[in-house]
Amino acid sequence: MLSLDIGHSAQRFSEYRVMRTYRVLVIGMGKRGLHHATFFKANPRFQLIGVASRDSGRLQGAMSKLGNVPSSSDARALALSTKPDLFCFCTPPSVRLDMLKLGIECGAKLIAFEKPVALTSIELYAMRDLVRKAGVKAVVSHQHRYGVHYRKVKEIVGSGVLGRVHTVYGTATGWMTHMLSHLIDYTCWFNNYAPAAWVMAQAAGRAKFTDNHPSPDYIGGFVQFDNGVHGVYECGAGAPDQPEVAKWWGKNRMGAQGTEGFAEVLTNGGWRAVTKSGGHESGEGAMNYELDMPPYIQEMAEWLDDDAKVHPCNFENACQGAEIMLALQRSAAEGGQVTLPLTAGADEQAMLQAKIADRPVLVSCEQNRKEFGLASA
Ligand SMILES: NC(=O)c1ccc[n+]([C@@H]2O[C@H](COP(=O)([O-])OP(=O)(O)OC[C@H]3O[C@@H](n4cnc5c(N)ncnc54)[C@H](O)[C@@H]3O)[C@@H](O)[C@H]2O)c1
Repeated sequence: MLSLDIGHSAQRFSEYRVMRTYRVLVIGMGKRGLHHATFFKANPRFQLIGVASRDSGRLQGAMSKLGNVPSSSDARALALSTKPDLFCFCTPPSVRLDMLKLGIECGAKLIAFEKPVALTSIELYAMRDLVRKAGVKAVVSHQHRYGVHYRKVKEIVGSGVLGRVHTVYGTATGWMTHMLSHLIDYTCWFNNYAPAAWVMAQAAGRAKFTDNHPSPDYIGGFVQFDNGVHGVYECGAGAPDQPEVAKWWGKNRMGAQGTEGFAEVLTNGGWRAVTKSGGHESGEGAMNYELDMPPYIQEMAEWLDDDAKVHPCNFENACQGAEIMLALQRSAAEGGQVTLPLTAGADEQAMLQAKIADRPVLVSCEQNRKEFGLASA
């Protein structure tokens, strides 16, 4: 009788664990904040307990879509009064460290936020120290990887049919602070997050330094990974067009080459591979928030349930990519190769702005001329 009771309690405890809902607060109600709030609200494992934005117009717009959710223009007051399990912020790249501190201060068990991790390595290391010291889980939104075409390329690379993988690569016509974080994260995923040993890069063009994703107009560089794989990246006005892809922000190509073939994904243009045994193969796929956000959100609940189910977009992996991205910027500003890991923080934005010549960037295609505010040829 006694053992039956214990069994019953254990079953009830496991049911409680399965059904447990986590209370979520989302800060920033722009495009991505509204996406996050919408998909947390749609997932039964989460309860959206509040949203905040400094911009009352955006907050009103969000409320009309989210329905009856507590809202505030004061993120700090809302966080400290509600004490969410999950603190999510979707703010511009210049707003990171203070939000992370607030997430820790309000006692959240998981902090979810947007790429890029940080604009400078000073900020990156401050954030990393805080997360490690607090022991809080953190996730960065590199959610494109859930796309069927991204997963297919990862599967092909991991299957061994490419032979010895020697190169990973990523290009995007969108500018650095928007896109380089994505390119590096997915190619590091293809390369099983092997650490990087050194980088070298060049950059040109000053037009996008005033953007809210401040960037040189064009950056290109190399990464040597410890496992012998070489990374090649280009981002911005000089990066190659992908004429197969109509949507300008989707003209991103990421892949891996080996001794027996290659496999690559186009963000808005499916996937393709050529291998010795399989010949030419290809398939559909286009980046889609409706498809990518639900599993990204669901895996946060699973990590909160179980420490062993580490989220694929975990902060430590994102930091590895962020450090590579910032080292590339340092190299572009200072010249020469930069050893990884970096030994001290610096302000890479200031370094680039001090060094990049005031000459218009040269473009790879007519559409880039328009996107970078240059007169037509
Ligand atoms: N993962 C992806 O696919 C993807 C796609 C687009 C954008 N992003 C990233 O998402 C982030 C947000 O982009 P967005 O397009 O939603 O921006 P947005 O400009 O549309 O919205 C930003 C929101 O943050 C609020 N905000 C700004 N400063 C704040 C502060 N100090 N405190 C509180 N709120 C503040 C603004 O009022 C606004 O509501 C950026 O880092 C961007 O790079 C990621």
